Amino acid sequence: MSRLVVVSNRVADPRKAAAGGLAVALGDALSSTGGLWFGWSGQIAESTAPAQAAPHIEQAGDVTLATVDLSADDHAGYYLGYSNGVLWPVFHLRLDLARFDAGDIAAYRRVNKMFARHLLTLLLPDDIIWVHDYHLIPLASELRALGCQNRMGFFLHIPLPPQQVLAAIPQHDWLVRAMFAYDLMGFQSEADLQNFSRYVLTEAGAVDLGGHRFRAFNRTVKAGAFPIGIDVDEFMALSQELPAQAMFERMTEEYSRRQLLLGVERLDYSKGLPQRIRAFRSLLQQYPENIKSATLIQIASPSREDMGTYTDLLAELESLCGSVNGDFGELDWMPVRYMHRNVPRAELPGLYRAASVALVTPLRDGMNLVAKEFIAAQDPSDPGVLVLSRFAGAAEQLLDALMVNPYDIDGTAKTIQRALHMPLDERLARHHNLLKIIRTQDVHWWRSQFLAALESTGHQSNNRHQPVR
Ligand code: ADP
Ligand code: F6P
Repeated sequence: MSRLVVVSNRVADPRKAAAGGLAVALGDALSSTGGLWFGWSGQIAESTAPAQAAPHIEQAGDVTLATVDLSADDHAGYYLGYSNGVLWPVFHLRLDLARFDAGDIAAYRRVNKMFARHLLTLLLPDDIIWVHDYHLIPLASELRALGCQNRMGFFLHIPLPPQQVLAAIPQHDWLVRAMFAYDLMGFQSEADLQNFSRYVLTEAGAVDLGGHRFRAFNRTVKAGAFPIGIDVDEFMALSQELPAQAMFERMTEEYSRRQLLLGVERLDYSKGLPQRIRAFRSLLQQYPENIKSATLIQIASPSREDMGTYTDLLAELESLCGSVNGDFGELDWMPVRYMHRNVPRAELPGLYRAASVALVTPLRDGMNLVAKEFIAAQDPSDPGVLVLSRFAGAAEQLLDALMVNPYDIDGTAKTIQRALHMPLDERLARHHNLLKIIRTQDVHWWRSQFLAALESTGHQSNNRHQPVR
């Protein structure tokens, strides 16, 4: 059997907790098959240090972790600059936040080349290579330029924007051409897949070969939607363990007289946090019966703190939470409990289970695993209600959530009110359907669907030996 080689910017020990959907899902996916996981070590090398000769290698159970450090310039240009200063905002429809700087694209190319050079030394001829996320779009074309003929697939964890938005990136044609060095391009949702099809047909002059296979630049690429899932059994088992139980008991005791609303995510402008706090304010204004009877716990873990857009958001959120508490709080009731930190993964299920309502209201999100974790953690005989943004990739699957448009503040407040007062029989029916879908399409399903599609590309493409031109 071929070995699986996973490549991503973030690499995490699969035996340890991680915040961020990609690290959590890949840890789950790789621990069941073993293989090699290659990426950035998370370390920034001293500027005077000589360039790294070989990757650091570490064994984590059946998974070999191979990582390389980044120089300070590469970290600034590749990670903060091009990946998170251009691709992240544009792919999340925030053209206003994108900063196009010529130096950053140079660093992005340089790091992808450096990754390709190091990875090549570790590859076996029949390895299957699975590259993840926007940091590494050109990795396959760099590997192909070095002569690598392995089968390669790419999975985009974030949304792919519509053609007109993608075309705002000065290097959009180069980025899409690089996608044709892969045998398979995987997306989170049907909407992303449609955006890809439309772009390659109208902008790149690709030929539609049917079955989501496209020919351009002398190569054939297959595309597909593979919505990422969670390890439902593992998450349910976690919720039965002591740390989760203790958290559940603490929360239910502390909030015994109130209903708990919960938000958990990285502090990111794509997550719709200010809009959510405004919707909670609107709930208290429009439906004052919630005063002293509903509390919003908002946990936002620190993320990309070297970037101004993220520090601005932190200040905005703190001020919004402070003003809701100042305007509505009582001596014995704080409407919003906001925490800027990570919750230990072992305790998360207990927190989810104690909540009557989860607010998962991103302005745009590739998938959103928090929504799925919330469902898995519920007591099936008394489940909480999921309020979900229609702009999360998960909305294509989680049809029994209460859908909201997070830009519509009063509309969201109205839906939260409905969630808080939903009768048990409706909660049971919705939760039953939601659990069924996250169970059927879990992280193992995602991995096997993607890898089966990647393996099937061998029969239909004539890509071997053909570089992208
Ligand atoms: P993203 O990949 O954009 O961060 P997802 O919702 O897909 O968003 O994945 C987030 C993952 O990180 C989930 O597994 C979630 O449990 C975890 N996570 C997010 N925020 C926190 C937090 N504050 N504390 C602990 N874990 C978190
Ligand atoms: O899921 C999107 C994503 O960018 C992942 O690639 C990443 O692991 C996660 O969010 C956290 O972001 P970062 O790696 O920049 O801390």
